[in-house]
Amino acid sequence: MKGLILCGGKGTRLNPITYSIPKQLIPIGNKPLIAYTIELLLQSGIEEIGILVNDYNKAVFQQVLDTYFDKKFHYLVQEEPKGIAHGLLFAEEFINGERFIMVLGDNSFDFDLKGFVQDFKTSEKNAKILLKEVENPERFGVAYIGDNRIIDLEEKPKTAFSNWAITGLYGFDKNIFKASKEIQPSKRGEYEITDAIKWLLQNGYDIGYEKLSGKWRDVGEPNDVIEENIDKLSNIEDHIEGEVVNSNISGRMILKEGSAIYNSIIRGPVVIGENTIIKNSYIGPYTSIGNRVKIEMSNLENSIILGSCNIWGVEHPIDSSIIGEGSVIRGNKGMKKTHRLVVGRNSRVYL
Ligand code: G1P
Repeated sequence: MKGLILCGGKGTRLNPITYSIPKQLIPIGNKPLIAYTIELLLQSGIEEIGILVNDYNKAVFQQVLDTYFDKKFHYLVQEEPKGIAHGLLFAEEFINGERFIMVLGDNSFDFDLKGFVQDFKTSEKNAKILLKEVENPERFGVAYIGDNRIIDLEEKPKTAFSNWAITGLYGFDKNIFKASKEIQPSKRGEYEITDAIKWLLQNGYDIGYEKLSGKWRDVGEPNDVIEENIDKLSNIEDHIEGEVVNSNISGRMILKEGSAIYNSIIRGPVVIGENTIIKNSYIGPYTSIGNRVKIEMSNLENSIILGSCNIWGVEHPIDSSIIGEGSVIRGNKGMKKTHRLVVGRNSRVYL
């Protein structure tokens, strides 16, 4: 079976980070979010993977994923962003009539996909959805279950009469392409995947489902990124290649080659990339720091610092923050207390 990962969408709720990097490539524990999904597919035995991208971000996906995987993927271009059901039509040729697994590239799953794949591969079902019980179903597609079968589906209902959200992981056969061509755009102007599955249901096709007991997250907002980082860092193991000088380290830490920590306190779990220098600082739990970063006389925790940032003299902790590549943050140690800002469009600064 083939796998298809959808990476369309503009990720506007993650601006300004997503001005320079698609949300599926945001590093979580210094690894792009989508890499976890690719590993999930590979571990379940799916070898041939298509990644649906936009024309303008195809090159960055290719460049980033080439450095993470020895494998090559098929990059398929979605010409216009008109919703998930519209997007998957650009993959019809790649799928070539086979059964396949589709995953939304901004979703994260704590899940062993093997069982789901095996079951769908051998079943007669036309589609299979993965459901998760949530407290805020109105944010998602929702499934109504009766008598152990799906009886209805609704995309982001005003009032949901079921707590079962439809997660972004689906098994489909070729009929999903037919359904996607039959439906009309929703109120938000998108061809909804939930409407396509509903079309299948209403036209006598067989829809299966599985309930997910592990964690699931739709990584759409800054807070989701921070939470995702916490979850992924909870599972790291110690791995120290860099240098630690006159510092106090507790908890688990990954410290990559060429990096050094001087006169600092580190409370893991913390992930630090290559050629990064940390001096006279405190780095608290659940912090991911990229490559070529300099941190001096500063205090931070529970945050994601992308590559080539420079943080100096920040006494009050930087907490629950995402700092984009190449950013400079300087505290006003010993200087007049002012705020001096050069921030991009749609930045968020909480002082
Ligand atoms: C999309 C789907 C929705 C699904 C969700 C999962 O929503 O339309 O049915 O529950 O992904 O992440 P969107 O992220 O486009 O709002």
